[in-house]
Amino acid sequence: MRIAKYCAVVAMLMAVPAFGQIIKDDPSTYPSETIVNSPHNMNNFTGVDIDQNRVCLPCHTPHNALKAGEDNVLWNHAETGETFSMYSSAAGQPEGVSKLCLSCHDGVTAIDSYGTTTGTTLITSTANLGTDLSDDHPIGIEYPTSDSANYNDPSSFTGGIAGSLGVHLVEVGGIQRVECTSCHQVHNNGLGNFLNVPVIESYLCLQCHIK
Ligand code: HEC
Ligand code: HEC
Ligand code: HEC
Ligand code: HEC
Repeated sequence: MRIAKYCAVVAMLMAVPAFGQIIKDDPSTYPSETIVNSPHNMNNFTGVDIDQNRVCLPCHTPHNALKAGEDNVLWNHAETGETFSMYSSAAGQPEGVSKLCLSCHDGVTAIDSYGTTTGTTLITSTANLGTDLSDDHPIGIEYPTSDSANYNDPSSFTGGIAGSLGVHLVEVGGIQRVECTSCHQVHNNGLGNFLNVPVIESYLCLQCHIK
């Protein structure tokens, strides 16, 4: 009797995932870390001091936004003016949301250049992608939906962290493309590296690639 009861408890424990365990295809198990405690709170970056710890301000402003690219997200950060080397000759210069990311991650445009402020603090870690993107996963490219032997249909993509989109395509100039936010969720770092879905068993990659 005692042993049977013990076995039932063990069976129950095995059925329920350990607390904090990420199940790759179950977004409800993805840990969430809001922007305030993340590397995207610029106040967490040595040398940057945002007035009143206004976390959103280096990227957004409610009024007099600078805008950038085609993404009208009340953008408040200085835009990158660099010319980038792309992975694929099929891609033009970064546009839309990818250009917004590169407006800090180019390692040239200062983190603290926003609104009317011109800063000097640069990303110098491995998070500095530089202006040579030829050694990075291609962006600015059309998703080859018709190549169904090698690429999944976008309708099969699953949900992402904290109720957001998971892996997704970004429409730029009327074309469904792979951009930085296809893989990254700029506001939530629960999975680390601001990823939309986990990289466990290359789940992220296999959303698109059939391998
Ligand atoms: C490091 C830069 C950065 C910071 C800081 C930031 N955002 Fe964003 N935000 C972005 C980018 C880039 C986009 C466009 C995302 C996309 O198109 O997928 C965006 C989009 C948005 C959007 C519209 C689309 C969406 O994702 O819901 C809202 C609303 C938003 N941000 C609110 C906020 C608020 C509120 C804060 C502060 C608490 C904040 N953001 C902080 C970069 C930032
Ligand atoms: C306002 C400047 C700014 C913008 C815009 C910005 N980032 Fe960042 N990002 C940072 C800083 C600063 C760090 C921390 C770098 C460090 O610690 O050296 C960072 C870190 C990261 C990291 C690493 C996080 C980790 O866990 O170590 C990723 C991934 C990232 N950003 C992706 C993006 C993407 C994708 C976009 C666009 C959607 C974006 N960022 C836009 C400033 C920015
Ligand atoms: C196809 C998916 C994908 C795309 C597109 C993508 N990334 Fe990433 N990125 C990742 C993954 C996965 C990691 C984590 C790498 C690791 O764990 O080694 C990462 C890591 C990063 C990091 C942290 C690097 C470090 O070593 O600190 C930054 C910063 C970053 N990405 C920015 C960007 C920016 C900016 C863009 C667009 C120009 C972009 N990413 C496009 C998948 C992607
Ligand atoms: C949003 C969909 C998407 C995601 C997620 C994605 N990829 Fe890709 N990947 C593509 C597309 C589209 C191409 C470019 C295809 C082309 O233009 O030939 C590509 C190109 C590549 C290439 C270069 C192939 C070549 O012929 O040059 C490699 C390698 C690759 N991806 C690996 C990865 C890895 C590893 C991951 C996960 C970290 C990943 N991809 C995540 C869509 C994606």
